[in-house]
Amino acid sequence: MKTSLTKELEMFTRTLEEKAGKLPEDSWRLKFHVMPPVGWLNDPNGLCWFHGAYHLFFQYSPSDPNGALKYWGHYVSENMLTWEYKGIALYPDMPYDCNGVYSGSALVEGDQVWLYYTGNVKLAGDYDYIHNGREGNTVAAVMDAHGRISDKKLLMKNTDYPSDLTCHVRDPKVWKENGRYFMVLGARKQTDRGCVLLYSSRDRISWTLANVVETREPFGYMWECPDVFLLEGQRVLSVSPQGLEPQGLDFANLYQSGYFMVRGNLDGEYALENFREWDRGFDFYAPQTFEGKDGRRILIGWMGMPDCDYVNHTVSRGWQHCMTIPRELTLKDGRILQNPVRELEDWRREERADAWKPGSQVQAGMCSDLMIESMDQDSFKFCIDDDLVINYDKDKKIFSMEFLPDSPISGGRTFRGVALDHFESLRILLDTSALELYINEGQEVFSTRIYPDFSEMGADGHWVTFLEGSGKMTLWKLEETK
Ligand code: FRU
Repeated sequence: MKTSLTKELEMFTRTLEEKAGKLPEDSWRLKFHVMPPVGWLNDPNGLCWFHGAYHLFFQYSPSDPNGALKYWGHYVSENMLTWEYKGIALYPDMPYDCNGVYSGSALVEGDQVWLYYTGNVKLAGDYDYIHNGREGNTVAAVMDAHGRISDKKLLMKNTDYPSDLTCHVRDPKVWKENGRYFMVLGARKQTDRGCVLLYSSRDRISWTLANVVETREPFGYMWECPDVFLLEGQRVLSVSPQGLEPQGLDFANLYQSGYFMVRGNLDGEYALENFREWDRGFDFYAPQTFEGKDGRRILIGWMGMPDCDYVNHTVSRGWQHCMTIPRELTLKDGRILQNPVRELEDWRREERADAWKPGSQVQAGMCSDLMIESMDQDSFKFCIDDDLVINYDKDKKIFSMEFLPDSPISGGRTFRGVALDHFESLRILLDTSALELYINEGQEVFSTRIYPDFSEMGADGHWVTFLEGSGKMTLWKLEETK
């Protein structure tokens, strides 16, 4: 039953979206990355394949491009590249989620999708909102095959979680294994250590704590957006830890996202090993995975970073942030490779293959897929849009991306790098204002936003200028398959 508050919120948000539909052309809007219809987007939520379509819900604040009250927006797609917006799925319209329908996940059960999320509540008063003044409620709602969403059910409150936690407990990820349901929640302990709560259930409604999962040594003060999955028989725990200090080239962003390989059983004896960052670029956080229709394990991250000191120039155009392109995960030599979903190859047009050397230049279009190989795996350097330098230093064994000082296209982004002992190939995806680099078939990935002035550069889009080294490249323009 819809309350009058829900009806009011529906009307308010629809009006905002209708107004946005009338905004002038914006060359930074993206062609194959998910972005908000208007306003702000953050974490991917409720990813699943259900009734012949991929569903992607997302953290959405239509009223403010800098983020405000959070709803779940909803997109569907058949190919994970062209997304149809279906409107808002969950509104913050209950006492237990009135300050935001926060992140969560989807569990497909026959003709239903169970949507689990965190109901965020901030009490009015003089609180620190870490140890007091905040609720992180675990809530479920059920979507049927027609996209109708049932009444919400409040499943757990802070008093149900272990007593040595702060109020920061959120972001349920739910899955089914051997006839039982499991849930992980991200949490911050009173001792300011990040951890994950593991719950199990026989009926997906009442949940029992099975374990508190953490590293032997403290690893950040809060773990957000946990995810647990099996990849080719290997158990993986993905988390977004906050509070890690930079270490050389590692942990360079304000908050991190990465994965542990799990040895043993998370509900018994276990060890978390070899934390690796998912992405080394400026704009990546809170990823989630799901199983595609053909069994592929797919990851989508938020291509943004909260609370950081660089900006997105789209704010003045009424919107901010996007998702990464969905990435297929595979396992190789104990680490996870990430590559763009193969569906993107159907969008390739006008293949151009060429040699490159210092001084070579290509105009890569607004949306393109560019493969770069270097001769004899040597050092190389090239520049995108005259301002973003991509470099592999074979002697130092460092791969890096660096915006030139005071670059107008960087929004204040500077330098990111990674230790790389050998270079084989680089795949660059350019989608107007989003750029993703896939190195050595997905061994490392860098995601960043970039804001060139296309009105100056012309409709042929991004420029790539080679500065050092030599090799081969293949360029495809990317266009939607009709
Ligand atoms: C991660 C996060 C989640 C929370 C959501 C709120 O970016 O902070 O922990 O549920 O965003 O939008």
